[in-house]
Amino acid sequence: MRKKVIAGNWKMNKDLNESQSLVSGIISGLGNDDKCDVIVCPPFTSLSEVHSLIKDTPVKLGAQNMYFEDSGAFTGEISPLMLKSVGCEYVILGHSERRNIFGETDEVINKKTKKALEKELKVIFCIGESLAQREDGVTNDVVKNQIINGLDGISADDMKNIIIAYEPIWAIGTGKTASPEQAQEVHSFIRGLISEKFSSETAENLIIQYGGSVKPDNASSLLSQPDIDGALVGGACLKADSFLSIIASA
Ligand code: PGA
Repeated sequence: MRKKVIAGNWKMNKDLNESQSLVSGIISGLGNDDKCDVIVCPPFTSLSEVHSLIKDTPVKLGAQNMYFEDSGAFTGEISPLMLKSVGCEYVILGHSERRNIFGETDEVINKKTKKALEKELKVIFCIGESLAQREDGVTNDVVKNQIINGLDGISADDMKNIIIAYEPIWAIGTGKTASPEQAQEVHSFIRGLISEKFSSETAENLIIQYGGSVKPDNASSLLSQPDIDGALVGGACLKADSFLSIIASA
C-alpha cells in the first residue's frame, strides 16, 4: 500500500511573518497524525525559519526550485547543498510555471533532477499537458516525452527518491480540475510507462500526485482513485484550514 503524500506549493506567496503563522496553523491542526506524508514548500526566504518550526513534527520541508551546480558564479540561483543546509528534504522540479514562464526545458530539468538526487534531495518531478495539447489528443505523448527526456539516465534505484506530480496546465490555478476519471486515466498511463522503463516493482512503489486546483471539496474524489497517491496543492495550501482539510481527505 502506498502512503498518500500531500504537498503544499506556496509559490511566490508568504513573507517571513506570514510563513510562520501558516506553518504554525498547519502544525497545530495536524498534531502527531502521520497517516499521510505532509510536505510544505515555502519560498526560499522562509525555508530556514519554517524548518525550525517543523522540527519534531511529522511535516517535511521542500523547496520550489534549485540550480544544477554545486556553487559558483550563478547570480540569483540556489544550489542543492544550500537547500540541504536549511533542512530541505524535497525539491519541486519541472513545475509548469518554471517550464512556461522561465523557459526550463526537459534537458535543464533532467540536469536538475540528477543533481538533486546526487545530493540526496528527493524530487517532486512535475509533468502535464496544456489545454491545446489535451484538445489535440496528445496528452499521453506529451507526458511520455517529459518522462523519457526528464528522467533520462535515472536508475530504478533513483526512482525511490522521486515523486511524479501530474499537473495538467489547464487545471493549475484556474479552478478547473481534471475529473477524477480523467486524472486516473493519465496516472495509470504514467504508472504503465514507469513499469516499462524501469520495472513493475518500481511502478508499484511510485507515488504519483495529482495537481491542479485541488480543493477541500474535490480532494476526496481525486484521492480515492487507485493511481492517485497524493496531491500537489497550490492555492488551497495558503490557508491552514483548507490545506488541513485536504490532508484529512487523504
Ligand atoms: P493550484 O496549483 O492548486 O493553485 O492549481 C497547483 C500547482 O501549481 O502545483
